[in-house]
Amino acid sequence: MQEKIIVTGGCGYIGSHTVITLINHNYEVVILDDLSNSNVQILDRIEKITGVRPHFEQVDLKSSEATQAVFKTHKDAKAVIHFAAHKAVAESIQNPLMYYQNNLFSLINTLKAQQDNGINHLIFSSSATVYGNPSTMPITEDAPTQRSFSPYGNTKKIAEEILEDFTNSQSEISVISLRYFNPIGAHESGQIGEFPTGIPNNLMPYITQTAAGVREKLMVFGNDYPTKDGTPIRDYIHVVDLADAHLKALQRLLDPSSTQPLEVFNLGTGKGYSVLEMIKAFEAVSGSPLNYEITERRPGDVPEMFASTALAKQVLNWEATRGLQEMIQSSWTWEQNLRNEL
Ligand code: UD1
Repeated sequence: MQEKIIVTGGCGYIGSHTVITLINHNYEVVILDDLSNSNVQILDRIEKITGVRPHFEQVDLKSSEATQAVFKTHKDAKAVIHFAAHKAVAESIQNPLMYYQNNLFSLINTLKAQQDNGINHLIFSSSATVYGNPSTMPITEDAPTQRSFSPYGNTKKIAEEILEDFTNSQSEISVISLRYFNPIGAHESGQIGEFPTGIPNNLMPYITQTAAGVREKLMVFGNDYPTKDGTPIRDYIHVVDLADAHLKALQRLLDPSSTQPLEVFNLGTGKGYSVLEMIKAFEAVSGSPLNYEITERRPGDVPEMFASTALAKQVLNWEATRGLQEMIQSSWTWEQNLRNEL
């Protein structure tokens, strides 16, 4: 008997890679997505890669009625993986209510619907952004969380606080919150990957779009940080490694001997790379120089972030296995495939 898993935001970047991993491990997947930042054609690609078409429901999780109705239909699900959220930092500064409403209502409605339908396990997509500007590296899970610079980041911090209060209040639902560092890369098939709408906020899609001629040049946001070459350092992690971590977290939640009310794990590689190192590594992969220019700092950026990976390794028996070259190569292959299709 296959175990049914509800994946909200399963048509998105990290969600779709995780759906593939789940299907490959014989789970039955139900995707709930409002398609606000994704495309339903992803289902064809998932089917092509895995041979299985996941069940799909287009639903707006901001609506408690719609959420209740869809969860009732799938009350035999064993767990929920909640990816569905808006994630553009600049947009969240322009429109904070949209972010608080979407990211927090959808979480609250999901928890309530889980409670009402007896679906007792949840994996939550959190972010390293909850650490703010941490003072010690590598960052361990017990480092204090800080109010984020952006409403987007703050929705992740508040969501974790909601989960803490919720799991303290009752023992039925157990939760694992996964704090992602900087996910990049794409599936080895070259069929799915990140597809930012509009101008990318994040470094990797900006680099690949510049190399593909979609953007004229990359702006490097500041080279006067207290780091080895003056540009900020981040912990980039392959999205397929991230998907594998969700599988491990799910297996832990579904194992009755290991379940805790709420656990939090960093998902990173433990290695930090500067922006200039990323550019050099990309140039080595693509074989061409990248057009870039050093500009002003971007407000809200911190000098250095990289994860302590010890807890995820010890408790989830998970660690990232894909290196920087593989991450960049797969991002670049995906970008080129995408441009050939468009
Ligand atoms: C950003 C968000 C974070 C969010 C994460 C995932 C901010 C301040 N932080 O993290 O809240 O969880 O994305 O979506 O926006 N860079 C450039 N030029 C660019 C783009 C980026 O130089 O065009 C630099 C940035 O200054 C940074 C590094 O590249 O040093 C990585 O940036 P990015 O990919 O946006 O990730 P974060 O800033 O770490």
